[in-house]
Amino acid sequence: MCHADFVSDEKLGLVANRLKRASRLTILTGAGVSAASGVPTFRGSGGLWRQFRAEDLATPEAFSRDPVLVWEWYAWRQGLVAAAEPNAGHRALVDLERLTTLTIVTQNVDGLHARAGSSEPIELHGSLWRVRCTKCSAERAIDSPIQGLPTCPECGALERPGVVWFGESLPEESFELAIDAVSRAQVVLVVGTSGIVQPAASLVEIGRARGATVIEVNPEASPGGRNRIALAGPAGEVLPELVRLAARP
Ligand code: OAD
Repeated sequence: MCHADFVSDEKLGLVANRLKRASRLTILTGAGVSAASGVPTFRGSGGLWRQFRAEDLATPEAFSRDPVLVWEWYAWRQGLVAAAEPNAGHRALVDLERLTTLTIVTQNVDGLHARAGSSEPIELHGSLWRVRCTKCSAERAIDSPIQGLPTCPECGALERPGVVWFGESLPEESFELAIDAVSRAQVVLVVGTSGIVQPAASLVEIGRARGATVIEVNPEASPGGRNRIALAGPAGEVLPELVRLAARP
C-alpha cells in the first residue's frame, strides 16, 4: 500500500503511468483539494452549506437585499483563505506540470492553485480575490480581505465579489477554455468535487464523450462519480504519491 494507505500501490502505479503517457491531461478540481489547507468544503460534514443558506449569501438577489451581510460573509472567507497555505495536493499538481502538459480547471475561488505555483488555472467560479463594479462592471484584483462596502475606483458605485453566484452564468471565456481543455484531454483527473453543480460537472461528461479516461481522487464516492477509476483517498496524500510514481524514469 502507498503510505497514504488508501489505494493499493498497484492501482496507483497504473494510474501514474496513464497520467504520464497522456499527451494532454485536464484536471478538474473542487473544494476537496483545499480541505487539507483548512478551507471548508460546501457539502458534507463541516461544509459551508450545512451552516449557511446559499439563498441568503450567494445569489444576486441576496446581494441586492443585504450587501452588508453578503460582504461580511465573503470577507470572512477571504480571511480564512488569506490565513491558509496551499497543501501537498496543490503542490503535487505544480510538480505534475513539469512532467506533462496539463490544464487545471477549478471550481474553487480561493486562488490556492495559483499561490502554489500552478500556471494559469482556469477559475470557473471566479475568485475571492477579484471584485466587480455593479454599475460599470470594471473589475479589479484585491490582495486582502474587504472591510466594509467596497466602491468602484472608476465610478464610485458599489462593488460585488468577483465570484459566480447561484443563478448566474459562468464567465464565458473561462467556460469555453474549460470545454476545449476537456475535449482535447486523453485523461481527465477529477479531484475533490461532489460533481453535482452544473455546468462545471458536465465537463467530465464532455471529456468522457470525447474519449478521455476519467480518474477521480476523492475519499468518498461522489454522486457524480460513475464510470471512472476511483482513487479513494484525500488529495493531499494521494496526489503527491501519484506524482512521485509518475516521475519515476
Ligand atoms: P463540495 O463541497 O460540493 O464537494 C467537496 C468534495 O470534496 C466532496 O465530494 C468530498 O468528498 C471531497 N473531499 C473532501 N475532503 C477531501 C480531500 N481531502 N481530498 C479530496 N476530496 C475531498 O465542493 P465542490 O464540488 O467544489 O459553487 O462544489 C461545487 C460548487 O458548489 C462550488 O464551486 C460552489 C458550491 O456551491 C459556487 O459557489 C458557485
